[in-house]
Amino acid sequence: MTDRYAVIGNPIAQSKSPVLHAAFARQTGEDLTYEAILGPLDGFVERVRQFMREGGKGMNVTVPFKVQAFELADRLTERARHAQAVNTLKFEADGGILGDNTDGIGMVRDIRDRLGVALAGKRVLLLGAGGAARGVLLPLLDEKPAALVIANRTVDKAEQLKVLCAGRDEVSVARFDELGGGNFDVVINATSASLGGEGLSLPAGAYGKDALAYDMVYGDAATPFMRRALEQGAARVSDGLGMLVGQAAESFFLWRGVRPDSEVVMAMLRAR
Ligand code: ATR
Repeated sequence: MTDRYAVIGNPIAQSKSPVLHAAFARQTGEDLTYEAILGPLDGFVERVRQFMREGGKGMNVTVPFKVQAFELADRLTERARHAQAVNTLKFEADGGILGDNTDGIGMVRDIRDRLGVALAGKRVLLLGAGGAARGVLLPLLDEKPAALVIANRTVDKAEQLKVLCAGRDEVSVARFDELGGGNFDVVINATSASLGGEGLSLPAGAYGKDALAYDMVYGDAATPFMRRALEQGAARVSDGLGMLVGQAAESFFLWRGVRPDSEVVMAMLRAR
């Protein structure tokens, strides 16, 4: 019996998940199909349950349903509970739904394993305090950075994220204009500023020597954040395509117990 999986979102036509999971299945020899489902804006839960009744084994969840998926899950992984958002559902044998969030671990593995930048002991700057930033906080802290500074245009929202990290002394909050001389080793853009075509300007000295600037967003060309970061002293830049592949690989691992080789699939995506 071929197992069925799907991604649900709205819109969904742009999703690369079906291509990614088909490639993972080919690579690992796993017998599965993976489809894209346009979730009704007022009927997400019912559409998930329908897919379960049809024998589906699991789903990826994307915009705008990640918080609804978090609420729907019967059980949550620690990282999903912390993110307060779910991008992976696993339908379990007892009829329960496990909710996970693989976005953060997907990004961390991309930075650590593909780009070869260890986060342990480093000074990390996280720009933004929305859902995207919250989703990567715990996996980032699990890497044991020396400092994790959260900076956001609206400082209150960064303070709220810090509250989620109670007891982690390495976490602090800063305003954008306080980042000068911060000497960060890794700067992660979790704001949606790139989507509006804007680069984020940081004060002088925010980027340390050899700093990596990582944008969670990806596109056909360098993002505005990446271009600005190079002008402002970042040594290396990356977009978030590897995070996209990484989160998919972690979902695949949760469902199938097999970890696909992300790099092969990255190369395939870049070539398309
Ligand atoms: P997401 O789920 O993608 O994180 P979000 O919750 O709407 O989306 O959060 C968007 C983030 O991008 C926020 O941190 C937002 O800053 P504010 O909290 O101050 O609104 C940030 N953002 C969006 N546009 C920005 C811009 N032009 N400059 C700086 N930050 C921006």
